[in-house]
Amino acid sequence: MTAQVIDGKALAAKLKDEMHTQVAELKQQCGRAPGLAVIIVGNDPASHVYVKNKKIACEKVGITSFASELPEETTQEHLLGLIADLNQNPRVDGILVQLPLPAHMDADKVLNAIASDKDVDGFHPYNVGCLAVRQPELRSCTPYGCMKLLETTGVDLHGKEAVVVGASNIVGRPMALELLLAGATVTVAHRFTENLQSHIERADIVIAAAGKQGLIQGEWIKEGAIVIDVGIHRLEDGSLTGDVDFEAASKHAGWITPVPGGVGPMTITMLLANTISAFKNHVGLS
Ligand code: GUN
Repeated sequence: MTAQVIDGKALAAKLKDEMHTQVAELKQQCGRAPGLAVIIVGNDPASHVYVKNKKIACEKVGITSFASELPEETTQEHLLGLIADLNQNPRVDGILVQLPLPAHMDADKVLNAIASDKDVDGFHPYNVGCLAVRQPELRSCTPYGCMKLLETTGVDLHGKEAVVVGASNIVGRPMALELLLAGATVTVAHRFTENLQSHIERADIVIAAAGKQGLIQGEWIKEGAIVIDVGIHRLEDGSLTGDVDFEAASKHAGWITPVPGGVGPMTITMLLANTISAFKNHVGLS
């Protein structure tokens, strides 16, 4: 079998086009555009690139972005004060604190300080809890994007064996909750899992989010499975690759996402979707 490649870039472009139209209508109707505040602390170059891309994406669909670039030595108290102000600001519908934060900060405490109705990353325990009890509100962007990619295959997920590799708060855990909500039988593999291969071999859906380059061998993939690769790693030659051996996996999978051009573009897209949802909630349209 040769897998069909799931084009995340194309799907993201289509969804952003739709959002552009929707935002123009909302602006007309409500007198203001949705607003997203993005906070970055410190000098991590990769994080600055992500934040710049988020600002560009906002502009493309007509969302107003408010950026706060804070120095590495910013105190947690100062950051919490800024978040408290943004929580109260009626022009701000979403607040995103770019991770990782400097080591002197308690990331959980900072993220939990964001008002849950402005938590467009979907990281707040309230929003994760809503997903867990089948009442999703603001959903974690990467897992939500993966669900949109899975949807494009047309495969009914009910009763399918799904294996999520990685149990992080950002991807693995909310991903498992999304798949459970969609009716899949879900296994979460993590650093203590014994015999990862045996789990992958029986999976109809593999979500690779371990953050380990090439961890998932192509020969492990069941014939016809759907493989979603959340991993992103830069090789010495500058090219990007994922957690899955793409070439070998493509010979077995029914569908597979590439790196780059798979999950990556969908994460920012779902951030924009969440910002629009939060806006609609704030103006009483949902
Ligand atoms: N750093 C890496 N990925 C993310 C993300 O999805 N959201 C935030 N806030 N920071 C990140």
